[in-house]
Amino acid sequence: MNIAWGITGAGSHLTNTIKAAKKISTKNKITFFVSEAGEEVLKTYGLFDELNQLVSNEYLDEIIRETTNTVSTSKIGRFMLGKYDYLIVSPTTSNTVAKMAHGISDTLVTNVFTSATKSDLETIVLAVDKGKDVSKSPMTLEKEKCQKCQDCPPKQKCPNNAIHQYQINLSKCNKCKLCVEICRHSAIGQKEIILEPRKTDSKNIRELNKTENVRVVQEVSKIIDLIDS
Ligand SMILES: Cc1cc2nc3c(=O)[nH]c(=O)nc-3n(C[C@H](O)[C@H](O)[C@H](O)COP(=O)(O)O)c2cc1C
Repeated sequence: MNIAWGITGAGSHLTNTIKAAKKISTKNKITFFVSEAGEEVLKTYGLFDELNQLVSNEYLDEIIRETTNTVSTSKIGRFMLGKYDYLIVSPTTSNTVAKMAHGISDTLVTNVFTSATKSDLETIVLAVDKGKDVSKSPMTLEKEKCQKCQDCPPKQKCPNNAIHQYQINLSKCNKCKLCVEICRHSAIGQKEIILEPRKTDSKNIRELNKTENVRVVQEVSKIIDLIDS
């Protein structure tokens, strides 16, 4: 199948989304549509470059970025031409869910969604704020634990040269976690983030679920089940 995959700016479910895309890409062709915030958050989590390994390259451009296209890029015309069998949006921020639920199409991914629903395309939306959410932060350096060692091993050994002046440059970090292992003071790691959904987010998700041909799911594994079935 040809699958269009929207990625918005959520850290929650992002790592599992990329794992699922990897699995789905073995049997299907994927084109990614990445919102501006989606690109920022993918880079923050060191996952942006992984997209290159997951696309089919059937078209010249299979990673369509809001940062390098207009929000209503002509590439969205592929939906009207029936080029895709499925649209998956995962992870989907509460911002994008709200817009989808209320027919607003002012970003790349909401525009893609509008075109998909107008073309009766089966759509799966993984809404991140459906329930209490526990996820991991990007790699962080705890200032209280850092002893500012002169020969800081994480700085010296980081393969991406991402550590400067006892700070992590997240746009360079690819989350290899070598620094976590070699910091003598256990100052580097990922923190647990717990988010409670707002009433308005739950309401928007219920509203979105009423849209024809749209399935809202909570777990990435559900996307794999639906695509495999
Ligand atoms: C590192 C990082 C993680 C974020 N994680 C989430 C998240 O899990 N859920 C969410 O709704 N917004 C999250 N945001 C905020 C969104 O990126 C922000 O609302 C943005 O405007 C969404 O734009 P988009 O929906 O067009 O991608 C995060 C932002 C950053 C910088």
